[in-house]
Amino acid sequence: MKTITIGTQTAHVGETAELCRALADEVETLLKERAAEGRLAVLGLATGSTPLPFYDELIRRHREEGLSFSNAVTFNLDEYEGLGREHERSYWHEMWCNLFDHLDIKAENVSVPPSVSEDPDRDAAAYEEAIREAGGIDWQLLGIGGEGHIGFNEKGSAIDTRTRRVTLARKTIVDAAPGFGGEDKVPTHAITMGVATILEARRVVLMARGASKREIVKRAMTGEVSSEVPASFLQNHQNAGWFLDEEAAGSGSDA
Ligand code: PGA
Repeated sequence: MKTITIGTQTAHVGETAELCRALADEVETLLKERAAEGRLAVLGLATGSTPLPFYDELIRRHREEGLSFSNAVTFNLDEYEGLGREHERSYWHEMWCNLFDHLDIKAENVSVPPSVSEDPDRDAAAYEEAIREAGGIDWQLLGIGGEGHIGFNEKGSAIDTRTRRVTLARKTIVDAAPGFGGEDKVPTHAITMGVATILEARRVVLMARGASKREIVKRAMTGEVSSEVPASFLQNHQNAGWFLDEEAAGSGSDA
């Protein structure tokens, strides 16, 4: 893995396996430091295809090296509206299948925004409150959408947004369609942590893989900081890290 400068930002660039090990090292250090102090570690987690090999590395460390998640508290970024937890495309379901089922994390320490809600405003406020009560997020993982969303904070999401119900962008629906068997089956709404919620995390890491992310990663890292590309807000975070494979980073020299 190498460290390169892109615009004003520092990016860690390497093979997926190297990126995953580096990210897992951060989580392992946090979990162990907190365990030694008898405290909880608060992780903000993401769904999508990007973090899957990272989750595999966490599972491997738990199984083979005994890394314990018994002091981990997790908050997921977002959830589709209306699917229900048991739906195989719900983020609740994906997180349990791809990660939580394979760790010693306590079920009561896992939070994913509700997919079904009678009162989304109330539930969004309760989600914010739960994060605050846990002491805030220590370590937040992000992917990046094709138009620069973080969580489901689509283009136009302001820096002061909080957890709330949102309308999904057309591009987000098109990108999700293969997994749902057609655009018409993708939910049109979701609940997401806000940009402000994300930026309050003490450490924020954005992971991007593949050439399809190259252009938007470049805009997010070097373009104007604006709600046009919500990931660009990371440029001004005190402790943000960009973890990119070679394809997402471009050549490195002109990126
Ligand atoms: P992906 O999604 O990891 O499936 O590319 C990332 C995102 O939309 O945030």
